[in-house]
Amino acid sequence: MKKILIQLDTDSLPGTFDRVVAIDAGVDELLTCGGVTVENVVPLVHGAIFTRGPNQLKHTALFVGGSDVSAGEDVFRTVQSTFFGPMRVSVLMDSNGSSTTAAAAVLAAAKHLDLSQTTAVVAGGTGPVGQRVARLLAGRGATVRLASRSAERAEAACEPIRKAVDGAQLEGVATGDADSLLKACQGCHLLVAAGAAGVQFLSQEQWSAVYGLQVAIDLNAVPPLGLAGIEVSDRGTERNGLVCYGAIGVGGTKMKIHKAAIQALFESNDRILDVEAVYAIGEQLQQG
Ligand SMILES: NC(=O)c1ccc[n+]([C@@H]2O[C@H](COP(=O)([O-])OP(=O)(O)OC[C@H]3O[C@@H](n4cnc5c(N)ncnc54)[C@H](OP(=O)(O)O)[C@@H]3O)[C@@H](O)[C@H]2O)c1
Repeated sequence: MKKILIQLDTDSLPGTFDRVVAIDAGVDELLTCGGVTVENVVPLVHGAIFTRGPNQLKHTALFVGGSDVSAGEDVFRTVQSTFFGPMRVSVLMDSNGSSTTAAAAVLAAAKHLDLSQTTAVVAGGTGPVGQRVARLLAGRGATVRLASRSAERAEAACEPIRKAVDGAQLEGVATGDADSLLKACQGCHLLVAAGAAGVQFLSQEQWSAVYGLQVAIDLNAVPPLGLAGIEVSDRGTERNGLVCYGAIGVGGTKMKIHKAAIQALFESNDRILDVEAVYAIGEQLQQG
């Protein structure tokens, strides 16, 4: 039976990235729906769950994508609430690459650090990628400082993570300029720059002088980069005595995780692939 992936994209013109990856991951038929919202998604889910018998539903799966991660999260919740009993299909949430990118970044850090003993700063931590990085780190016992230009936004981003992760050691920090970010970084072992594309947080001189810092990861691929001096292709590259990763260096792992997550959708009809499940898939890939 053909593997059908139904792409529920919140953008009116769905991008090509997720579609190419779906084909490369081995999907037989890709049905792309654009302009998907919580108001119009339910009939699309019904179309997925009522067309094949319960034993065949593992051959149909859903992918929630699009550039608006918050809209994607709403659609992801509505999709799950539409399932009942055996009438369900597996679903992956990866709007704007947020789950797969965050998982790849944290897996990169975990190669060099014992996360349970790590203090981390996530700059740009209020964005969809940064929030997921912070959540994954907190879930692995790291002490996390989630940084934003606004104390209120930082605290608001911490709240859902505290609800999701029992005993999360997490604080929001206001870092409106380089000096305040440097202060927040002192004594941390890991710095993840997850700011908006083209936003530079620190010069090379600044980040390389942070006391205790061992690993620096910059997810911004658009010049100027978030941490000056890190190259986009850095992948465990040593710079100024620190281990560095750039956006493309992390992106290779992200692509592998993305494809493996698509393939995992077709293993059964009940996989719910949020960022935690996506991270687990990445861990399996590294172990295998
Ligand atoms: N390597 C990959 O495969 C891959 C995949 C997806 C995304 N990315 C990259 O990952 C990064 C994070 O993505 P995202 O979608 O989470 O980013 P985003 O939502 O666009 O931005 C993240 C945060 O950056 C902060 N920010 C925005 N403008 C700023 C400015 N002028 N100065 C300082 N801070 C600013 C904001 O936080 P506050 O307003 O709270 O300060 C915002 O919440 C981006 O650079 C994106 O391009 C990489």
